[in-house]
Amino acid sequence: MSNTPVDIKTVEQAISDFKDPETGRSALRFEQIRDIAISPDGLSMTLALTSWAAPIANDIKGSLEECLRSKFPALANISVSLATHDRPAEQLGEIGLTAKSVIAVGSGKGGVGKSTIAACLAFGLRRQGCKVGLMDADVYGPSVPHLLGVSGRPAATDNKIEPIDANGMPVMSMGFLVPPDEAVVWRGPMLHGAITQFLRDTRWGDLDYLIIDMPPGTGDIALTLSQLIPLTGAVVVCTPQDVALLDAVKAIAMFGKVNIPILGVVENMSGFVCPDCEKRHDIFGSGGARSKAEELQVPFLGEVPINIQIRSEGDQGTLETVFDNPTLAPYLEQVAYSVVRDLARKAAATPPTPSLPVLG
Ligand SMILES: Nc1ncnc2c1ncn2[C@@H]1O[C@H](COP(=O)(O)OP(=O)(O)OP(=O)(O)O)[C@@H](O)[C@H]1O
Ligand SMILES: [Mg+2]
Repeated sequence: MSNTPVDIKTVEQAISDFKDPETGRSALRFEQIRDIAISPDGLSMTLALTSWAAPIANDIKGSLEECLRSKFPALANISVSLATHDRPAEQLGEIGLTAKSVIAVGSGKGGVGKSTIAACLAFGLRRQGCKVGLMDADVYGPSVPHLLGVSGRPAATDNKIEPIDANGMPVMSMGFLVPPDEAVVWRGPMLHGAITQFLRDTRWGDLDYLIIDMPPGTGDIALTLSQLIPLTGAVVVCTPQDVALLDAVKAIAMFGKVNIPILGVVENMSGFVCPDCEKRHDIFGSGGARSKAEELQVPFLGEVPINIQIRSEGDQGTLETVFDNPTLAPYLEQVAYSVVRDLARKAAATPPTPSLPVLG
């Protein structure tokens, strides 16, 4: 290969199969590879990625450089720089929601930290540069407004509900519509109606990810969601105890029944990292979710330690500040990263049928 002349044609040929992580289609064909420059001992180019792929952008850049190095070993200076590529989300299903990926965060039992993990997944993605919305599908016990410290009544304009803005992130929750101390008796059809309105009638804008915080327990909301839109998949949250793991197995089965793919499992309240000595204590045991995930052949997406700050910031409505804690941030960022990495792998394995015109 080192004798091959290096010109635009050979370079383009070498990278023609390199895939855009979001679509799984050739980045070159969709004009995401730009400014190819060849010098006697070097090769440089720009790779333009969408904000959807922001959490894994450096990995993708690294693998393009790796690909070039293996194809042009004689060139000492190979470099790829990153740029942004704009590709708006298409409408999902028939209800007009424009989001590239819709991810439900659920569990088999209550109180394992679904809402906390859902909010942290949304923050984690947004902090990396993705366009994210957060929908609280827990109509009986909405907790997202409390965790995020946002309140207000969503305004309606042109038959659309304006979501509440949480530092630039659109959020919708029954908590904005019903006073916290009011008991509402929900019948099945009303529940279905509320979820439909949240998805169809909310002005979410153009989203990379819509994260949905699921209520505990039964599958009615999952069923409603699966009837309304093609969900990208579900993240199942569990704690390390055996009993909670059994609940996770049930949750996985429940999502399976309504044909929502499982994106993977997150172990929450995994280990206690002592804030004084930084030693880790596995209060509820550890590693259970990872081995259960392996056994069930679903990805393990990461673990989040039990931590006083996670609880107290959530209670004070300042949950996002946990990302400023250098001990916690890597755990939370890992969950967002794993989700996007796995979705990109899936896209690469089965690219969606092209609905965009092929350029060049
Ligand atoms: N990793 C953690 N460390 C410490 N506290 C946590 C952690 N994760 C969640 N919590 C706390 O546990 C409680 C329950 O969390 P959360 O409301 O997120 O659970 P949930 O599964 O959504 O509950 P529900 O089933 O009622 O919807 C909250 O007080 C939250 O602050
Ligand atoms: Mg909850």
